[in-house]
This record gives sequence, C-alpha cells and structure tokens, in this order.
Amino acid sequence: MMVESKGWDWNNVAEDEKGIWLEPAVESYYFVDRWTKKGYKKFLDLGCGMGRHSIQFAKAGFEVNAFDLMDEAVNSTMKWAEKEGLSITGKTGDMLALPYEDSSMDCIFCRNVIQHSDTEGVNKAISEIYRVLKKGGECYFTLASKSTHGFKATDWPLLDKNTKICKTPGPEYDVPHYFADYDDIFELCKAFKIEKIYHVENYYEQFGHGHSSFHYHVIIEK
Ligand SMILES: C[S@@+](CC[C@H](N)C(=O)[O-])C[C@H]1O[C@@H](n2cnc3c(N)ncnc32)[C@H](O)[C@@H]1O
Repeated sequence: MMVESKGWDWNNVAEDEKGIWLEPAVESYYFVDRWTKKGYKKFLDLGCGMGRHSIQFAKAGFEVNAFDLMDEAVNSTMKWAEKEGLSITGKTGDMLALPYEDSSMDCIFCRNVIQHSDTEGVNKAISEIYRVLKKGGECYFTLASKSTHGFKATDWPLLDKNTKICKTPGPEYDVPHYFADYDDIFELCKAFKIEKIYHVENYYEQFGHGHSSFHYHVIIEK
C-alpha cells in the first residue's frame, strides 16, 4: 500500500533557514538557460514550496504553473507573483495524480519533492511526470541518495527497503523520504531517455554543527 502523502509544514521552518527558500537553487540558473534555448514555454514547478523557482522562471518569460500539496506553499507563491506583477497559475494537489492534461508541459522542475513518498509513490509520481510532459519535453528532478545521513539514521523508521520516515524536528517531521542509488534511478526512468545524472554532496550547518547530504540530480527527456 502506498504511504499517505504528507507535505512540508512551512510554518515550522527555523527563522534563520527561511532565506534559503527565497533564493533560487544554484542549478536552476542552468535550467533557465537550457530550456530557453530549447524554446520551451510551458513550465511546471512541481512542489513549488515558497515559490523561488516559479518566480525565477516567470521572470525569464516561461508560462509558469506552480503546484504543491500544501495551500501555504501555493498561496505564498501566488502572493509573491502578485507583488512582482507576474502572471502564474497556481494549483494545490498531489503529485500522485497531477491535475494537468496529458502532454501539456514542455518542462518540469521538481527539486527535492518526489522523494517525499515511498517506492510505490515515487514510481507513480514519475509516471505522472511522463503523462504530463510533451514528447521531447524534459524534467529535472532530484532524489535523496542512499549515501546520505537520513538513510543511515537509526531513529528513522523503515517503511520499505528504500523509504524512511523523517524524525528530525522541523518542517519535514514525519514526512516519508525515499532514498535511491543508480540502479533505482535507471529502473524508475526506464520510459525516458536519461540525459544526465549528477551525484552531488551539499555541506551545510544545522543544530550548531556541520552536515552533508547527497542527492542525485537527474535530467530526463520524454
Ligand atoms: C523540500 S521542499 C522543496 C520546495 C521547492 N521545490 C524548492 O526547491 O524551493 C518540498 C516541497 O514538496 C511538497 N510536496 C511534498 N509531497 C508532495 C506531494 N505528494 N505532492 C505535491 N507536493 C508535495 C512539499 O509540500 C514542499 O513544498
């Protein structure tokens, strides 16, 4: 049985971490460039959070659809767009049943989102991405790696062989986390052409000491 979807509790983000969610991630600049050059227009920010990438892509001229499980996330994105005078279409819903037509998006940006389910849910989210992308369209997504600390954490209960429940206090408390390796990604993406996979380490400080996390960054084409 698939685990019940649980989004981020955005009201529980620590004060000194709020700024992170308002600046585009470093990788996103590459995708503005890559997808502008490909002539893509219809853009889906799958799991938009506070809206940092929706705003960035709208400013770059894309037709932006901002989507998240949490009303707070979509509302924050829409308020920010209004302040900037940008036109964005916002929708609340679950990545397991995307409320978009077949073959309706040129490109899908999905950073640290589909990992928030179990093995069955991640497979379902990838099949929804396939359905919604146009032929020749691309998706950038990230997945937490089995090399990262959460997968090794002994106080995070195991749900299936790839999935644990986060027990770190904060916005992700009780949110499921799926962890991948290369073989998992090849299997998940077998309907797509895999363009690139990067295995990236991020260093950051939290709770007064340094941590690092590993994620796969994947570009796939339908
Ligand atoms: C780590 S945050 C990333 C937000 C954004 N992509 C960014 O980079 O700023 C993960 C987001 O995914 C959303 N999310 C989690 N599960 C989801 C689901 N089943 N369907 C849609 N969104 C989901 C969360 O609510 C949260 O806003």
